[in-house]
Amino acid sequence: MMCDLDHLQVREAATLMHTYARQPAAFVRGEGAWLYDGDGQAYLDGLSGLAVTGLGHAHPAVTEAVAHQAATLMHTSNLYYTHRQIELAEGLANTFGWSDARTFFCNSGAEANEAAIKLARLHGTRRTDGAVGVVALTGSFHGRTLGALRLTGNPAKHRPFEPLGDWVTHVGYDDDAALEAAVDDQTSAVLVEVVQGEGGVRPVPPDVLRAARAACDRVGALLIVDEVQTGLGRLGSWYGWQSALDGDPVRPDVVCLAKGLANGLPIGAIVAHGEAAKVFEPGDHATTFGGGPVVCAAALAVLGVIERDGLVARAAQLGDHFVAAFDALADGHPLIAGHRGRGLLQAVTLTRPVAPTVVAAALDHGLIVNAVAADAVRFAPPLILSDAELEQLLERFAAALTTVEQEAS
Ligand SMILES: Cc1ncc(COP(=O)(O)O)c(C=O)c1O
Repeated sequence: MMCDLDHLQVREAATLMHTYARQPAAFVRGEGAWLYDGDGQAYLDGLSGLAVTGLGHAHPAVTEAVAHQAATLMHTSNLYYTHRQIELAEGLANTFGWSDARTFFCNSGAEANEAAIKLARLHGTRRTDGAVGVVALTGSFHGRTLGALRLTGNPAKHRPFEPLGDWVTHVGYDDDAALEAAVDDQTSAVLVEVVQGEGGVRPVPPDVLRAARAACDRVGALLIVDEVQTGLGRLGSWYGWQSALDGDPVRPDVVCLAKGLANGLPIGAIVAHGEAAKVFEPGDHATTFGGGPVVCAAALAVLGVIERDGLVARAAQLGDHFVAAFDALADGHPLIAGHRGRGLLQAVTLTRPVAPTVVAAALDHGLIVNAVAADAVRFAPPLILSDAELEQLLERFAAALTTVEQEAS
């Protein structure tokens, strides 16, 4: 007899476009750091969606905020004022510590980057006619819409969709001199992540971040930091740029957010300050759904819980535990080559390109992680992970490694 998963796989293949190579699991319920399939089997979520559900699944504060808002006011167009959108912009400004911050809300990470680039183009063309260029980094990921795809530093993802235009220059993600040299009076923005998430959990070196700020200042371009994956406490600071340079952070002009902001509901945002905050005028940019009352209520609940429960500091502490545990694990597991990352965005690197096999074995052991490269397994667990859950996560990962090591011997 066909099981529930087999049935779903057949129906999926018949009805959905084949854009995802899915893992063999179907979840019906989540609670905290745990997901459950239709048979009641529990899986420890070491990935939080893809760095989305930072407060874990079905967090009561988010559920309550969403239910209340949905029963009160679900939607008005952006032709009118709504309380939640303005409250959320105020809340975000506080997390940045920018008294002159202004926010534009959209629906996803790619849309946030598109909005940031449109803003930079307007700013650039006002400064120098034709200053529409963007300098971005190799290995970066900024989304799948055409503009965000062009910004993404992965030529293999461009090829099927070319031509994508010649307005982006990619420089090596660790090459501060190349970045300095690439920025000129035709540059409207430099776009960086502080840790490249999809690019393999690679921290961008401090010198590159410093060079980006200096080069922008030299020509009057905007420094945009894509914190879609790294923001909202994940790296052990509200935003990764704040802790990237040991107490002497470079200040971006624009920051892009999405994933963790509403704990699973679709939202994106760009937050700007200074001159950049004043660029957009009515008609320059808009969205039907962006900043709707329900997603904003969810995001307000997220900010409130992160603050109330001290989850930024907790993410930093958990990150330190992970690093120590990975070092200890490496002693007994020859498959581990090392690890990289910050806070609760970590990758364990492997001595062989068997990350997909390790991920499959982890799923069999009730642990959700993913292969962020052929030789790297990504961990992005929720910020609410308990010490006991951290131990279970490590035990399950160790068991998965043992399975793969034994199969190879
Ligand atoms: C750094 C970064 N930017 C942008 C995106 C795109 O976000 P979305 O899938 O919400 O469009 C992602 C998604 O993984 C990301 O990691």
